[in-house]
Amino acid sequence: MNINIITLFPELIQPYIENGLIRQAVKKGLLNINIIDLRPFGIGKHHLVDDYPYGGGSGMILMPEPLKAALDSIENPGLRILMTPSGQLLNQEIIENELLENVNCTIIAGRYKSVDQRFIDSYIDIELSIGDYVLQGGEIPALIILESISRLVNGVMNNIESAKTDSFSSGLLDAPQYTRPEIFEKTGIPEILLSGHHENVDKWRLEQALRRTMNKRPDLIENKDLTNKEKKIINKIELEDKNG
Ligand code: ADE
Repeated sequence: MNINIITLFPELIQPYIENGLIRQAVKKGLLNINIIDLRPFGIGKHHLVDDYPYGGGSGMILMPEPLKAALDSIENPGLRILMTPSGQLLNQEIIENELLENVNCTIIAGRYKSVDQRFIDSYIDIELSIGDYVLQGGEIPALIILESISRLVNGVMNNIESAKTDSFSSGLLDAPQYTRPEIFEKTGIPEILLSGHHENVDKWRLEQALRRTMNKRPDLIENKDLTNKEKKIINKIELEDKNG
C-alpha cells in the first residue's frame, strides 16, 4: 500500500515512521510512505499557504492552489483523505473496509481553521475526524490512520483473519485481560482464567466484553448486528442486573 501524506510539518511525521510498527511494515515492503511538504507549493516569495476567510471571522484558511499543486505532484494519489474535525468519525470499520481496500491513498493533514471548501468539493474523497475535539492540525490524526493501517498490513502477512478479529472489528470493547503476578496487592484474577477450559474462557470473555460495552459504549451495542448468542447473553446480563 502506498500512502502519501501532505503536511506543513514533515518533521512531525518523519520520526514516527522511522520507528515501531510502521517501520516494520515499510521494511517488509508492505507499506510505502511518501511525505510531501506543502510549504514549497505555497504562493509567492514567502510560499504562503493560508489566507483570511471571506466574510470575516477568526482563524486562517488553507488556500486551494498550494493544496492542488501538492496533490498534482503525486503520481498516483488514489483515495484522497482530508483529516478535519468536521469529518466523519473514524472507526475500525472505515479503516478496514474503506481505507485498506486502496493500493494508493493520500492523507492531507489540515492546519489552521479550515480548508477552502472548493478544494474539498473538487479533490477530497473522504473527510475523517478522530474525535469530537479540535487539535492544532491533522498530523496526529494522519499518524493514527497510518498506525491502524500498519498493524493490519503487518497482520495480513501472517493471518488475515486474525488481523481482522484481534482488533475492534467484533464491534465490542475487549474483555478485561490479566497477566502475572497471579496476586497483585492482595487481588487475584478471575478463577476461570486458570481453568484451562478454553471454551468456558471464550464464553466468559464474550460476556465480559458485552457487559463492558453495554456499560461504557451502549451506542456500539445499538448499532451492532447482534448474533443470537450475543442477544441471549445480553438478556441474561439484563436479568441479572435487574435482580441485583
Ligand atoms: N484536525 C484538527 N482536529 C482534528 C480532529 N479531531 N480530527 C481530524 N483532524 C483534525
